Amino acid sequence: MCGIFGYVGSRNNAGQLVVKGLKNLEYRGYDSWGVACKVGDAVLVEKDIGKISAVNESEFAHDCGMAISHTRWATHGGVTAMNAHPHLNEAGTIAVVHNGIIENFQSLRNELKEKGYTFKSETDTEVIPYIIEEEMKTTPDFASAVRKACAKFDGRYGILAFHTESNTLVATRTGSPLIVGVGEDGYFIASDIPAFMEHTKTVQYLDDGEMLVTDGKSILFTDLETGEEHPKREIEITWSVEEAQKGEYAHFMLKEIMEQKDSIARAVNQDDDQIKVIADAIKNAQGTFLVGSGTAHKACMAAEYFFSVIAKHHVNVTSGGEFKVHHHFLKPESLMIVVSQSGETADTLEAMKVAKSKGAKVLAIVNAEGSTIDREADYTLLINAGPERAVASTKALTGQMAVLMMIAHAMNDKLHEGKTLLLNTVSSINDMLNPRYIDFLEEVAQEIQHHEDLYIIGKSWNYPIALESAIKIQEVSYIHAEGFAASELKHGPIALIEEGTPCIALLGNDEVTPDIISNTIELKARGAQTIAIAPENNEAFDTWIKVPDVGVAQAIVNVIPIQVLAYFLAVKRGKDPDMPRNLAKSVTVK
Ligand code: AGP
Ligand code: GLU
Repeated sequence: MCGIFGYVGSRNNAGQLVVKGLKNLEYRGYDSWGVACKVGDAVLVEKDIGKISAVNESEFAHDCGMAISHTRWATHGGVTAMNAHPHLNEAGTIAVVHNGIIENFQSLRNELKEKGYTFKSETDTEVIPYIIEEEMKTTPDFASAVRKACAKFDGRYGILAFHTESNTLVATRTGSPLIVGVGEDGYFIASDIPAFMEHTKTVQYLDDGEMLVTDGKSILFTDLETGEEHPKREIEITWSVEEAQKGEYAHFMLKEIMEQKDSIARAVNQDDDQIKVIADAIKNAQGTFLVGSGTAHKACMAAEYFFSVIAKHHVNVTSGGEFKVHHHFLKPESLMIVVSQSGETADTLEAMKVAKSKGAKVLAIVNAEGSTIDREADYTLLINAGPERAVASTKALTGQMAVLMMIAHAMNDKLHEGKTLLLNTVSSINDMLNPRYIDFLEEVAQEIQHHEDLYIIGKSWNYPIALESAIKIQEVSYIHAEGFAASELKHGPIALIEEGTPCIALLGNDEVTPDIISNTIELKARGAQTIAIAPENNEAFDTWIKVPDVGVAQAIVNVIPIQVLAYFLAVKRGKDPDMPRNLAKSVTVK
């Protein structure tokens, strides 16, 4: 959540540079922004609520070689300019931006108040510069004082700070991602790569429990507690600047939906031998646990059906935040498969840590190479979807499902058939996503945009897709959308149906199709306006959104028109689908 971006080096426009980079982190979700520039021996702070995109970079044309910046996703204290970061100590010598939560901030704040400190904001963050100041009374070296201060903080956080009397940037990490861009003329430190991608593609990852200190010419990574030096590899990233830009599209969300023509094929392009090794590991594991959060959790739920139907193998599926209570089922011989786009989701990471503490092996299916989950898993399969910047996850989901479906086929010694099916599915998606089809989905959105309630039903693997559809519509259009297992309707939810309520049914062409047609008829009988996403039409459907018949891969196809519908519902209701309210792209708090 939130965005951190800082620079130190030989350039003299650090203020403009960080503001520009911060704009590239807007997709992470935020409510206010702020910048601190070291100009001579002083610090100039500018912060406000609202959009960083509206801020003119030229306002930051100070002669400045070091600056830090932040987009805040408020956790403690309202969305006000005063609560926005950076936060300073009273003397205005220490500037701090912070991502995450200092859990013990209340007791620290009380102690500081007793010592005479006064607080300007309601945030947990403001204790950080004061505690550093306190530590500097006995440990004048800034970086050492930051290290000592961090020993007092509980919680998961990332901090970037500087002192006006030192020319170094100091960053620490215990949970929230911070990545270093290694430039020819300085170091860039950010929550995510797009902040500095135009300057460098050479990166170094700050790990949990580490600290870095850089003066722009060299950089030192150490253990946050002991100070012991940690050697760091430089990694070259392969994503292009163009991939991370909107190009001809009005929004990232639509661009990323359309990219599924290619991204699913990239996900399928995995090494056969590796997939077979993973398939065997699942067969031999004493319990396989699939864990993800939000949309990634729905990929896991769909995979439960893939493993059941294709591989006849049972797996346990749990959302990241719910896993902890099931820890006693994990053995050293168990396998956890964690699924995540960002590889930084706190709930998912927590489940992964539980698995590791029990000695179980962890396979990660992730998009973001070099992310924490990628680095901490025993084994990773990258889905290679390219950067996903819209908050609503689209191409990552279909890539995750494709990889999981391939593994299910490999477990049944049908890897080749599985790959062929998925590649044929990609070409059907390519045909489906033509301009006329998109226009038709826009018309459907136009028709239902004013409804405040919308229900989606599915059965078998279309059930998790119904749940995913609800997430997609909720998060970008703010319509109250709910997904149900079609058979569950008559056990309660059907009471919600009124004359004209839009209900979307997700169908394939398989043995459950007659059941879900019956459920659609039941809805229609109670006045629902029925919209079906299905390979074949039926008189029960008021509106038919045609999809190709792709057999066991139907879930992958059916979610795509829903993504487009959600996109148009948002746009027609005047919402920005790329930056939904209250949400962040990468949810690094529990
Ligand atoms: C998806 O549209 C959501 N914004 C959200 O549910 C997301 O899928 C979830 O936070 C998990 O993220 P991850 O895949 O990066 O772990
Ligand atoms: N907890 C801090 C605040 O509310 C940081 C939030 C963030 O990660 O943006 O200001």
